[in-house]
Amino acid sequence: MAAPVLVTSALPYANGSIHLGHVLEYIQTDILVRFLKMTGQDAVYMCADDTHGTPIEVNAWRAGVTPEEYIAPYYVEHQRDFADFSIACDCFYTTNSPENQHHSEYIFERLREQGHIVTRPVTQYYCEQDGRFLPDRFIRGTCPHCKAAEQYGDVCEACGTTYSPTDLSDAHCVLCGATPVMRESVHYFFTISAYEDFLRDWMGTPGRVQPEVRRFLETWINEGLRDWDVSRDGPYFGFKIPGEDNKYFYVWLDAPVGYIATTQKFCGDTGRDFDAYWHNPEATIYHVVGKDITYFHALYWPAMLHGAGYTLPRKVLVHGFLTVNGEKMSKTRGTFITARTYLDHLDPQYLRYYYAAKLNGRVDDLDLNLEEFVHRVDAELVNKIANLVSRVVPFVNRHFEGRLGRLDDNVKPLVNDVRARLPRVRESYERMEFNRAVQEIVAIAEIGNKNFQDAAPWELVKQNPPAAQAVCTFAVNCCRTVAALIKPVLPQYAADVEAILHVEPLLFDDAARFDLEEHEIGAFTRLIERVDARQINAMVEASKENLDAAPARPAAPVEALEPEIDLDAFSRVDLRVATVLQAETVEGADRLLRLRVDIGNEQRTIFAGIRQSYAPGDLLGKQVIVVANLQPRNMRFGVSEGMLLAAGPDGTDVVVAEFAQPRQPGQRIR
Ligand code: 2FM
Ligand code: ZN
Repeated sequence: MAAPVLVTSALPYANGSIHLGHVLEYIQTDILVRFLKMTGQDAVYMCADDTHGTPIEVNAWRAGVTPEEYIAPYYVEHQRDFADFSIACDCFYTTNSPENQHHSEYIFERLREQGHIVTRPVTQYYCEQDGRFLPDRFIRGTCPHCKAAEQYGDVCEACGTTYSPTDLSDAHCVLCGATPVMRESVHYFFTISAYEDFLRDWMGTPGRVQPEVRRFLETWINEGLRDWDVSRDGPYFGFKIPGEDNKYFYVWLDAPVGYIATTQKFCGDTGRDFDAYWHNPEATIYHVVGKDITYFHALYWPAMLHGAGYTLPRKVLVHGFLTVNGEKMSKTRGTFITARTYLDHLDPQYLRYYYAAKLNGRVDDLDLNLEEFVHRVDAELVNKIANLVSRVVPFVNRHFEGRLGRLDDNVKPLVNDVRARLPRVRESYERMEFNRAVQEIVAIAEIGNKNFQDAAPWELVKQNPPAAQAVCTFAVNCCRTVAALIKPVLPQYAADVEAILHVEPLLFDDAARFDLEEHEIGAFTRLIERVDARQINAMVEASKENLDAAPARPAAPVEALEPEIDLDAFSRVDLRVATVLQAETVEGADRLLRLRVDIGNEQRTIFAGIRQSYAPGDLLGKQVIVVANLQPRNMRFGVSEGMLLAAGPDGTDVVVAEFAQPRQPGQRIR
């Protein structure tokens, strides 16, 4: 048998739901793998959850659970989403696995032996309050260029300038608001410049990457390959660097190794030969990735594999981003649609079809235009592809007891026409120009539809039943051909047609056969329905609602207003911006949280009756409003030095008032 093919898509982070942008890539990958399998190749699709890194570690800490506990539900959710979109990974694993640790360490050690891992000190922001180094995204401050406040440590969203976090004025920790200090720590670096010649050669081989991708890879190389920092200090969720106590592999080192680790797991489960994939220059490895992670996949990754002696990728296929209705997906517009919200409203086959009909194998962004989506699904998928099955099958059952006759000689030119188109379909799939494949398949469906319509078997059957039966026989053969061709895109549809026509699971070559004669077909069952446009609106509305997932509650009666006061009375209430530094439960008080807050020049302890509505981790780093000149109150558990502003009918349903944009602690609120 020919050498195996292994295809991967980028691994989703295990800290959020997948959305239609992710789904685009997985469907693209799935179509390719299904096509390869249908053409007799030994292809597999490997994917996994990407589990490590600071954001996951911090989210888990905030939620008061271990990182392992934090990622577990996403693993279940992601697999369910994949299955419900018919995205058929041969193995969906996790990067937090012993296999991944083994291969990550192995690669690292090989690179180190060759002198391509070096150490040197790095000075970075460190938050003494939280006891951690702060990645760029965990620091905010004023942009050195345009002076916009509250910008991240790497890029200003107001003016687009990129800089280093140390360039920010008034830098502060996103987690606790404290001013970080500079601290030195030794980091490990991968000296990728040692692989420059190798990389030029690898990417220069035709077919490795799309031409436009190759152009920007060359620019990057020409600008000089800088050492890559592959270590992070704890606290971190990841694999410890061998021989270190508190240093870990950076998530981007072990993430792609997840492709190898998943293959290892798959081979262990199925008895296949791992080396046939990863230690075999004949094996074909394809990585499908978004354009934002090209650098990792087309520079660092081949260099790592080469240095450690693994099979190199044959191709890195880069795609663009998904836009919806011409714009970046937006939560406020309801176009940031999760996989599950889509599935709650619409048939997954529609999206598989629509994406396939637009995927052109280039790096361009792909627009999901919801109006066009409805139109194309109805006009092409329902009215052309599925239509012939729903016309001819009931007719054959009604008039010929489900039996086909023989093909008439007069359809030979049509059969030849269809057959002549098949190489184009095959080639388009191979080139991942699924849009061309779909276009051709729709044209083939049209040949079948037109012949059926022109021959009008419903008339013909009255005078010449065998002739009508021959017309139907050709139509049924067309149905089979179209189902075989569209099967990589619509596996469910193809399976339904196979069941209706009583045929074996279709392979790609079955498309050319036209030999279904004197065969008994089954009853018609429902195939693809027209799009219910109301469901599109419902999905968009539900995507807006996702923002505020809190269930709707019945309105409580509004409290009567207090007697009027003058401005002077109000100004004696001293309200201040406070940052929550600590939050903890109070033993013996199931309604209270003990908070430590920063109100500018001092810190206060406040007991707040919000325990039923907030976990301690929910409030850390939040900026709230404190009544700062309220007399201290002696409570059973200690003294409460202020009060937090919050709204809610009772202690079980409270929302603390907080600032959407960061403020300086201690600022007065008037
Ligand atoms: O960008 C991302 O979403 C990453 N989780 C992709 C990782 S792909 C591979 F390197 F694991
Ligand atoms: Zn901090």
